[in-house]
Amino acid sequence: MKEIITLGIESSCDETSVAVVKNGREVLSNIINSQIKIHENFGGVVPEIASRKHIEAISDVTNKALLAANITFDNIDHIACTYGPGLVGALLVGVSYAKGLSFALNKPLTGTNHIEGHVAANYISHPDLKPPFLCVIISGGHTHLVYVKDYGKFEILGRTRDDAIGEAFDKVARVIGLGYPGGPKIDKLAKEGMANIELPKTHIDGLDFSFSGVKTAIINLHHKNPDINKADLCASFEKYVTEILIEKSIKAAKEHNIKTIALAGGVSANSYIRKEFLNLEKSGFSIYYPDPILCTDNAAMIASAGYYRFISGVCSDLTLNAVPNLKIG
Ligand code: KG4
Ligand code: ZN
Repeated sequence: MKEIITLGIESSCDETSVAVVKNGREVLSNIINSQIKIHENFGGVVPEIASRKHIEAISDVTNKALLAANITFDNIDHIACTYGPGLVGALLVGVSYAKGLSFALNKPLTGTNHIEGHVAANYISHPDLKPPFLCVIISGGHTHLVYVKDYGKFEILGRTRDDAIGEAFDKVARVIGLGYPGGPKIDKLAKEGMANIELPKTHIDGLDFSFSGVKTAIINLHHKNPDINKADLCASFEKYVTEILIEKSIKAAKEHNIKTIALAGGVSANSYIRKEFLNLEKSGFSIYYPDPILCTDNAAMIASAGYYRFISGVCSDLTLNAVPNLKIG
């Protein structure tokens, strides 16, 4: 089979990232320019600033990705860019840049779904992983249980009815004064605490989730008792959300007779969640998660997802537009 070199471009939120990936699995470079330091000052991502910073960074990040992979534009066979979901102004920077490159270099372009990218991060970290499997997509914007039937073929089995899990991590962290982004900070502090604070369970039938109740409960607990032990609060919150994720994942896996479970998305970098899921191997499941750098937003995962779409015949033309609420599947 001919070798295919994909240039991946990601700009859906606050990371400008460009990667070079061979045959969808081998990362030759993956440059990530994070804007976190800028948005930290505002306690969250400011969309207007994100778009401007993407424009300033994208050419430079692309040159660095080519240099790190030791190739030139001539060596690229295919371009994949995120076209949704995400912030419209941020997405438009990557989409417009990718269309410009595709036109100027006369190379095929595949508009790629950001959430499919998170799933594909597992293909990079685990060369042996192939569909079918259950993917637990847990990020700042999404909480989905997805049956990955084949490359690019998905069935959503469950989703959050309110907040995404990463949103809950970020809100809890903000309220207790840990700052943005909250996930990594809660992860660190929880290690010093005990999961000894009772949190009210929100029961949702089936495979859907709800995280707004636990978020509100923690905010109320902290307001009523500002001296509450923050490390214990973080550990209790992590235990609570992990139990729900595991309960629903097992239910989905049993209902669909799936023995392989992969985690994906920024929250799958969480060390407690990773450890608890790994324990399921004792019950006969195979558990996968991406390397931490591939859990949060990056262009290598977009190149991988785009590659699988491309080899199945999917190509975009120059009318490709940003789709902020793009669905998976
Ligand atoms: O996948 P991602 O980079 O962006 C979206 O597509 O949404 O996810 C970002 C989310 C943020 O909510 C961040 O707090 C969370 O991932 N996150 C974590 C950890 N690292 C990042 N949450 C829990 N533990 C972590 N170690
Ligand atoms: Zn993401």
